Amino acid sequence: MIQKPRGTRDMLPNEMERRREIEARMRARARLYGFREIATPVFEELELFTIRSGEGIINEMYVFEDKGGRSLALRPELTAPVLRMYVEEGRSLNKPVKWCYFADCFRYERPQKGRYRQFWQFGAELIGADSAIGDAEVITLGYDLLRTAGVQFVLRIGHLSFMRTLLADLADGDRKKIRGFLDKREEEAAITYLRDIGRDDLCDPLLRLCGARILEDIFAIIGEIPEAARVREMFAILDASGIPYEINPAIARGLDYYTGVVFECFAEGLGAENQILGGGAYRLAHLFGGEDTPSAGFAIGFDRVMVALGEAGWIPWQPQVMIITTSEGRDYALTIAGQFRMNGIITETDLMDRSFSAQMKAAGKSADYAVIIGKDEVATGTITLKDLKAGTQEKITADEAIQKLTSI
Ligand code: HAM
Repeated sequence: MIQKPRGTRDMLPNEMERRREIEARMRARARLYGFREIATPVFEELELFTIRSGEGIINEMYVFEDKGGRSLALRPELTAPVLRMYVEEGRSLNKPVKWCYFADCFRYERPQKGRYRQFWQFGAELIGADSAIGDAEVITLGYDLLRTAGVQFVLRIGHLSFMRTLLADLADGDRKKIRGFLDKREEEAAITYLRDIGRDDLCDPLLRLCGARILEDIFAIIGEIPEAARVREMFAILDASGIPYEINPAIARGLDYYTGVVFECFAEGLGAENQILGGGAYRLAHLFGGEDTPSAGFAIGFDRVMVALGEAGWIPWQPQVMIITTSEGRDYALTIAGQFRMNGIITETDLMDRSFSAQMKAAGKSADYAVIIGKDEVATGTITLKDLKAGTQEKITADEAIQKLTSI
């Protein structure tokens, strides 16, 4: 037996319907903020991701050479592709450009619950707005989309300038190492590293900064930084919008392109893979041949949201109808099926040449209503609608049945 590749999943109809419902809610919500959906290729030139995504992602990429000898990669994320697309197609558009996407990504990670090698992201990118209110809107949208999905979570917000300021006199490589430890939430390892490079003096301030949850406490540790006014304004906007959040200066983000505000959301009860959203402000357009363009965005780990929702993932109920007939009633039955479907009613007919009683039995297992069509119904232009749960039935016209089924 050939099995699906490790880290991938097959999705049965029930799961697909739950996913499509949540996906549709997110897409509709993003549209209300003016974010419109785009699509990019599943594979891109490898270089797109090696320029600035960072080692973590590069080591996990699915890379291949095509028959023309080009080095390509399956997209591990969409921010770089979206900014590549912006430079190629969107530069003349009115700013800010507000795009969203729902797409699969590929990372060669060790699979476990909530961590897959093919996974879906719902993301949004705000390109060309350099403002506190722009940053706040991106965070608000991410928060709102997760609320719309119905998941329980906490939102944590940080700013890369906090650590950058504290660690300003370290070499780039050392600062990167510390960021790597903080991203994995390994503060102890960061402290050990500082000791090893002879910077014991930074250990206490680093621990205090990681633990700070109030903006003014942060500025008391690192001093007034040039970004302070903008950071204060952004948090004031979020406060005015009533968005609950926690400040966390230790947020480092795993990707290398972030420059300013960074934020992450964590779901309750998901175990180790509980980060369901990651995002922040970044600059990428200039690396892909465009002008230096301030941007901000996020991506929601859609599969993790679905795991977090569990049984709570809600499928809107629709009555399912099975038409039961004999060979003499078949043409009439097909006409009725056509009318029902035109009116948005899920309607199936027997495709296995089953006997009348076998059709009835099958309907009892899979449908909510049976439409019974015998000689009498054909002759009088009616149908018999049977409520399979209640066991009641009535002889009515197709229009009356449609009226009844669409008003449930
Ligand atoms: P990221 O944090 O690498 O950011 O991924 C975003 C989200 O995708 C994560 O928070 C997580 O929920 C989900 N995710 C990541 N890896 C996996 C996996 N192996 N299996 C399941 N879910 C996973 C980005 O990708 C950035 N492009 C976000 C962004 C957009 N920043 C600015 N704009």
